[in-house]
Amino acid sequence: YNHVYGKGKWKDFDQKDLLLSYNALKVLEARYLLKDPNTLRYIETPQMLFRRVARFLAKVESKYGKSEEEIKKLEDKFYDMISDLRFVPNSPTLMNSETRLGILSACFVIPVKDAMTTPEGDGIYDALRATALVHQQGGGTGFDFSELRPKGDVVASTAGVASGPVSFMKVFDASTDVIKQGGKRRGANMGVMHVWHADIEDFIKAKTGQLKDVQLQNFNISVGVYDYFMEAVERGETVPLINPRKTKIPGTDHEYYITRARGYMKEEWVQEIILDELEEKGGSVSLDESKIVTVDEALIIANKEGAIVRYVNAKSLFDEIVKGAWDSGDPGLLFIDTINRRHPVWYLGKINATNPCGEEPLLPWESCNLGSINLEKFVIEINGKPVIDWSGLADTITYAVRFLDNVIDANRYPLKQIEEATKRTRKIGLGVMGLARMFIKLGISYDSVDALYLSYQLAKFIYYYAYKASIDLAKEKGPFPAYNSKLYRDIWESAISFEELLNIAGIQERPSDYVRKLASVVDKLDLSELKGERLKYGLRNSTVVSIAPTGTISIIAGTSSSIEPLFALAFVRNVAVGKFIEIDPLFLEYLRKYELDDPEVIQKIAETGTIGENVFMPRSLRRLFRTAHEVSPIYHVLHQAMWQQWNDSGTSKTINLRTEEPPETVEKVYLLAWKLGIKGITVYRDKSKQQQVIYFGVKK
Ligand code: CDP
Repeated sequence: YNHVYGKGKWKDFDQKDLLLSYNALKVLEARYLLKDPNTLRYIETPQMLFRRVARFLAKVESKYGKSEEEIKKLEDKFYDMISDLRFVPNSPTLMNSETRLGILSACFVIPVKDAMTTPEGDGIYDALRATALVHQQGGGTGFDFSELRPKGDVVASTAGVASGPVSFMKVFDASTDVIKQGGKRRGANMGVMHVWHADIEDFIKAKTGQLKDVQLQNFNISVGVYDYFMEAVERGETVPLINPRKTKIPGTDHEYYITRARGYMKEEWVQEIILDELEEKGGSVSLDESKIVTVDEALIIANKEGAIVRYVNAKSLFDEIVKGAWDSGDPGLLFIDTINRRHPVWYLGKINATNPCGEEPLLPWESCNLGSINLEKFVIEINGKPVIDWSGLADTITYAVRFLDNVIDANRYPLKQIEEATKRTRKIGLGVMGLARMFIKLGISYDSVDALYLSYQLAKFIYYYAYKASIDLAKEKGPFPAYNSKLYRDIWESAISFEELLNIAGIQERPSDYVRKLASVVDKLDLSELKGERLKYGLRNSTVVSIAPTGTISIIAGTSSSIEPLFALAFVRNVAVGKFIEIDPLFLEYLRKYELDDPEVIQKIAETGTIGENVFMPRSLRRLFRTAHEVSPIYHVLHQAMWQQWNDSGTSKTINLRTEEPPETVEKVYLLAWKLGIKGITVYRDKSKQQQVIYFGVKK
């Protein structure tokens, strides 16, 4: 101990281990604590792990001329926030810091071109190799498979017949299975296909019906949809399906801002920016007007090229997507236009895919590292009343951004392409966990307008301080290499207002004075003032926030995951390392307060996991402890929308539905998500699949 903590200090650190729950210790023991490879004995305790991570991420600052003393101070700051469980970095950073394996990021997007291999290394089997390397070290991968020619198309070199994207996806799936055996954790994939692809119907059905517990088990799948498609759904119009091999229009070599590739639309903001750019460069860049096409013009060209395979009714296709999602949770949707419209560095190209859980829309080869703030830790009591510790929160955000920016330098990248793409934009993703518990401690139910308001204000506050921290880092260390002060888009300028979001969802109620007062500091934040600073000094990271699911790190922190409501007040958790029976400790605390912590009562609650219908429970408790399936779908979607407004990446969220919800609910959720400016949406209807990570109630 002495050599890790400094002489005589180890007792303090042991005390800190007491902050960890039993489940946290189980998880840390199973995958995170380092072992001697020969004896398989543990060579660290949880506090040693946190210290290892803090030390590793502080040390990289020697590169920026920091003295040893400054680095030690920083290490202590990092250590404090992690060991207090105020901030926890994503799993690969915890697992791999200071080890031989060097991947510290959780999210990757790997391009897949329509060739076996290519000199640039982005053919199908090049992508497969890259994926194996990433999975081996605990990262997750996303792919857009829309470049691949459809099933039954010609293969010139062999005069054979193409097997199509879905069959190649199965190869990625099988490889993921194999790597899982020796890797750090189960590899996860996101497979995307854009809605115009000729094989879209096969793709939509790839994980539903008879295939749902069988095929592509290591994949989440999402259909990439565009505004033109969603509008066609609403109007009942037809849309074309296209063979990508036969057309230049959706060609990858086209600049997105010129062709709006595959979106095929003239968009005013795109043209405005191009004209600005032309002016700035004194007209030396010539704009190839012929490349700007509308949907109709694009279709005429595609038709001439023979690329349109056939037309389908947009609503029928949408219904198939909805049916699939209702049946099995897949496919989700990615709103490609929203993603690109709100991508700060849109001028580098078009985003076609996200990482597995959707919180990171990334350019080809980009990676992103995440870390989340535990909001529960920022509820403090003043004069016996719970309030939010805004200044403590701002301080943790500032150090968390610095930490995550250092991860980019400390990372050892498995491939040159990944390193180049990542260092060019330096994307980081600061997120949150423990939101539901924060609400409870403040006496606010998750499915209330007050909670929505707080989500919106918290998201804004976190974005403000993360953006500010990144500007300060740019002052100190320089902006990200691809930074262009004029072209960079400030996403907060296009954030939909709180009122407007409620209006879109048809909610009349407005937040109470209590919650307005609780969050009043946020109203004073002036982002346009910060923009002046950004224009002057630049920005260190092209994206700063991202709402990740925090599947494991929320267990380590002992809090509710991400921005999700509590899942159940008592449940059995099935994870790779075993089964856990859990009773929510915060709930137990409240039961004690009301003197209801009787074993028989608890046993009863554990059978259903909820108290919403339990007439023997006090009404205030029933309202406060609303669980995922008691919260109506619209509130799930609205919370996601609140967080998405102040987020330059994506927001991962599962819209949990009760078993008995009809497909129409999924349809409503998907349409509403598009209108609320969400970037991607996933639903999961209880018991719709055999393998479910969390089950309700102990009696199963
Ligand atoms: O809590 P933790 O840091 O382990 O991860 P998370 O927030 O649940 O997930 C963040 C990201 O990690 C996911 O979106 C995936 O990109 C990746 N991931 C993965 O590759 N494999 C898993 N089994 C879980 C997550």
